[in-house]
Amino acid sequence: MDRNLALNLIRVTEAATLNSARYLGRGDKNLADQAAVNGMRKMFDTLAIDGVVVIGEGEMDEAPMLYIGEQIGKATPGSIKLDIAVDPLDGTNAVANGDANAISVVAVAPRGCLLHAPDMYMDKIAVGPKAKGKVNLDMPIDKTLKNLSKALNKNISDITVTTLDRPRHEELIQKVRNIGARIKLFKDGDVAAAIATCFDHSGVDILLGTGGAPEGVIAAAALKCMGGEFQGRLHPMNDEEKERCKEMGLCDVNKLLTMEDLAKGKEIVFAATGVTNGELLKGVVYYGNNRAKTYSVVMRAETGTIRFVEAIHRMDKKPKYAK
Ligand code: FBP
Repeated sequence: MDRNLALNLIRVTEAATLNSARYLGRGDKNLADQAAVNGMRKMFDTLAIDGVVVIGEGEMDEAPMLYIGEQIGKATPGSIKLDIAVDPLDGTNAVANGDANAISVVAVAPRGCLLHAPDMYMDKIAVGPKAKGKVNLDMPIDKTLKNLSKALNKNISDITVTTLDRPRHEELIQKVRNIGARIKLFKDGDVAAAIATCFDHSGVDILLGTGGAPEGVIAAAALKCMGGEFQGRLHPMNDEEKERCKEMGLCDVNKLLTMEDLAKGKEIVFAATGVTNGELLKGVVYYGNNRAKTYSVVMRAETGTIRFVEAIHRMDKKPKYAK
């Protein structure tokens, strides 16, 4: 895969954030999301790729752009065929409410390498490289934290578990408290939280709990690049969702989905740009004279290189992508 695609993917997530960050705190998550989609879609149009959206904004009849199955890019006869997973805005409520942790993300891999995950919940576990292979989704929580403490050479009382702040996680939270580990709750954005487990300075060691399945595939792609570990299991809430899994070829809905099931192979590229401030990336900052600053990260599984990119944008010179 052309390694320069990595820089182009940053352009894609930057375009989404520059559009959607305008809606910070304005109380309308749909406007913020739509702005991200518009920015991302326009930038994708400039890339010479033969992409198809496998994780996107929904089915064709639900979403006018970045829908599942949509062809992306200006394909030429030699273009590599790619699967594209996007979340133009992970944290729509965070932007609408002026909260932390919203990012724009994209992951690409050769055709057939990213799981076509249905839009439903997924149970998840994510850890950084030092704990890879030492924990799994089916382990009891006390064993998981014990193994993690050994792998990280940290007392259990110094381990920090991060999870979405949701009533469905009450039992999980209680168990972690009983074991004596720390808990960091977050309101939204479990892709960023999964990524944070791979950076010591983030202060979080493990992500546990249930979040969106599409976000799970994107997080798995990111953790593949960083040498971390991500596992998931679809969590259908009713028969309709179970049926949906089957229609999408996921006959065993209880299957433990490994990173290889979610994001196959090594030719994976992941990019993210911060919309609002988070552990990993700062959000968009607007300066005078029509300038704006973005903070992004891009990584490739093949080499494991992780690049942080700070960019100053002259908004008056790119009116096509951002107002
Ligand atoms: P959206 O931006 O689509 O609202 O997703 C934000 C998010 O926090 C995801 O990161 C997470 O996977 C999912 O919502 C959790 O779903 P729920 O809000 O239903 O608990």
